Amino acid sequence: MSKILSQKEVVFDRSRYPLLIGRGIINELAARLAERTRNRDVLIVYDNYFEASINDKLAASLRLAGFRVLLHPLEGGKVNKNINEVLKIYGLLESQDFSRDSTLVAVGGGVVGDLGGFVASTYLRGINLVHIPTTLMAMIDSSLGGKVAINFRKTINAIGGYYHPIINLIDLDFIDALPLRDYRAGLAEAIKCAVIADAEYFRFLLDRGAAILEKSEPDLLRVIDRAIEIKIDHVSGDVHEGGKRLKLNYGHTLGHAVESSTVTDDGETYRHGEGVALGIMAAAYIAWRHLGLKEQAYQAQREIFDRYRLPVVVEAAKIGFERAALIDECLRNVKKDKKRKDHVIRMVLASGIGQSAIYNDVPFSLIEEAFREIVK
Ligand SMILES: NC(=O)c1ccc[n+]([C@@H]2O[C@H](COP(=O)([O-])OP(=O)(O)OC[C@H]3O[C@@H](n4cnc5c(N)ncnc54)[C@H](O)[C@@H]3O)[C@@H](O)[C@H]2O)c1
Repeated sequence: MSKILSQKEVVFDRSRYPLLIGRGIINELAARLAERTRNRDVLIVYDNYFEASINDKLAASLRLAGFRVLLHPLEGGKVNKNINEVLKIYGLLESQDFSRDSTLVAVGGGVVGDLGGFVASTYLRGINLVHIPTTLMAMIDSSLGGKVAINFRKTINAIGGYYHPIINLIDLDFIDALPLRDYRAGLAEAIKCAVIADAEYFRFLLDRGAAILEKSEPDLLRVIDRAIEIKIDHVSGDVHEGGKRLKLNYGHTLGHAVESSTVTDDGETYRHGEGVALGIMAAAYIAWRHLGLKEQAYQAQREIFDRYRLPVVVEAAKIGFERAALIDECLRNVKKDKKRKDHVIRMVLASGIGQSAIYNDVPFSLIEEAFREIVK
C-alpha cells in the first residue's frame, strides 16, 4: 500500500521531474517509470542495509511490471564513495547492455545518491537516474539540486558534476529505521534552511522539537516539505552556484573544516550535519561579534542545536585532540577549502533569523577567533 502525502514538480535548468513524499511509495516506482521511459532495464544501486526491502518489495514490484532488474549493493559510509565502486558499476552496465534510456535507481543516503548519480550522469554521457533517499539529510539536501560526486584519495567530492533525476521518491518509512544520531544530523540541515530564509519555520523547529524528535508524521512532513521548498527556491535559477545557491552553504565552510580535521584512523568523529551545526555556531559568533547580529539571534541558534542535542562546541580532549593543534588544523583546512577566493574567505552569514547574505572578504583573523570560540 502506498500513501502519497505531498507532491511537487521540481524544475531546475531544463529538468522537470516529480518529487513525491509519502509512505510505502517505493511501490509507485514501476508505474511512474513506465510513464517516463519505454526501456525496461533498471539497475538498483542500494545501501546494503536495506537488502530485504529492496529485494522483496522494490525489485519484485518492478519485475512484476515487466522490468529487468539488476541489483548492486553498496556499503554506506564515506570511504565507499570512490572510483573503484564506480568502475564496478560501469562494468555491470556494460556487460548487461544498458543503453542511454535505461535507468539507475539510487536507494540510500548521500553516499549512494552521490555515487549512483555520478555513474548515471557519466555512463553513455547520461542515463536515467531515480533518487530514493533513505536518510533525512539525503531527503532534504543531497538528493535535490543535482550535485553528484565521488571522493578522490583524500579530497571529498573531488570528481563530479550536476545531474538531475527523472523521479525523486521520498519514502518516510525509511526514517523509521534511521538511528537517532543520523536523524538529528539531518535536522541540522533543516535548521540551516530556517536560519538563512524562514523565521517562522525556525520557530516551528524550536517549538516542536519533542514531536519532531519522536518522528511524529505531520511534524516530520512539515520539516521535510519546507526544507525542500527552501532548497528548491535557492537552487532554481542558480544550479551552478553563482549567487543565491551559495546561501545553502551556511555553516558549511567552517563545518567542513572541523569535520575533516577530526577524522581519525577509526573514521569520522562528526556526522556531516553535526559539522554543519558547529560551523553554524562559528559563523553565528562572527556575525554577532563583528557584524551586528543581535545576541538574541546568536543565542537562538545555540538553543535550537541544544534542543536537538547537536554539538555547539568541540571538546578537543574528549575526542582525543590537542586544542591548539586542532584549531591550527581547522584553519589549514579552511585555507585549502574550494570556497576560498584569493586571500579572503567567502562566507554566508546570518544577519538575523531568516535573513542571510554572502560576505566575500571575511579575514582569517575572524575565522581563527571563531574556531577558538567553538573548540574548547
Ligand atoms: N549532493 C549533495 O548536494 C550533497 C549534500 C550534502 C552531503 N552530500 C554527501 O552525502 C554524504 C553523506 O550522506 P549521509 O549522511 O546520508 O550518509 P550515508 O549515505 O553514509 O548514510 C549514513 C549511514 O546510515 C545508513 N543508513 C542510510 N539510510 C538508513 C536508514 N533509513 N536507516 C538506517 N540506516 C540507514 C548507511 O548505511 C550509513 O551507514 C557525504 O558523502 C556528502 O558528501 C552530498
